[in-house]
Amino acid sequence: MILRRKLVGTGWKMNHGIAEAVAYIDALRSLMAQIPHPDVDVFVLPPFTALAAAAAAADGADIAIGAQNVHWDDRGAWTGEISAPMLVEAGCRYVALAHSERLEHFGETYAAVRLKVNAALRHGLTPILCIGETGEDKHAGRADAVILDQVMTAMADQPADALPALVLAYEPRWAIGATAAADPDYVSDRLTDLRATLAQHFGAGPASMTRLLYGGSVTAANAPALAAITEVDGLFVGRYAWTAEGLAEIVAIVANAMGEDAS
Ligand code: PGA
Repeated sequence: MILRRKLVGTGWKMNHGIAEAVAYIDALRSLMAQIPHPDVDVFVLPPFTALAAAAAAADGADIAIGAQNVHWDDRGAWTGEISAPMLVEAGCRYVALAHSERLEHFGETYAAVRLKVNAALRHGLTPILCIGETGEDKHAGRADAVILDQVMTAMADQPADALPALVLAYEPRWAIGATAAADPDYVSDRLTDLRATLAQHFGAGPASMTRLLYGGSVTAANAPALAAITEVDGLFVGRYAWTAEGLAEIVAIVANAMGEDAS
């Protein structure tokens, strides 16, 4: 049996400046010290300006810092962009890619995301690759095909055994910033299909080692059922985790769900 470590994290989106970031990480550090979570990794994705301060505040704690985006080139004439080496220097270990807000509001495509995956892996950052269907895709019954196509496009330049170097965050686009998360049975069906098709394309070993997260309107109320899904290895939380208390609650829920798995 392959044991995948659980992973819980949040993207702050365009919230929290430097002072708020440091206060959040300090609070999270003390809250997490009270929650047993030996097999749960935790990440926080602040805005670019707060990355270095958040990473300094998280130093020595089991809280990894990551960015919400990256450019595909290492340097050059790309006004307004930030490179993977810059993120590494600021203390990042993760980078979210293809978040639905990047796709929807900034015209990002999986063709560009493919280059960003290459850049992240080249510099030792773990990409948190967001995948997910729109409401229209869902109604047309093509969710599984859309999700697989997103992964295949983003991974097009990578060898099959690179798959576990990524975290795949299944975030149905219709469930982000919504009033309710996706139904756990629906998430289970999508992720069961995804892991099976990943095994066909990347091999059974890489597919079984790759962490799959669920994201989209996660709260402490719906997290227990989502965390209990066999193929869910963790949760990617937005609004509910914009306070340290919120993220700590979800970490505790995922840590408990694991205890139940083992029993
Ligand atoms: P939400 O955001 O939890 O506020 O829906 C999730 C996300 O954007 O990843």
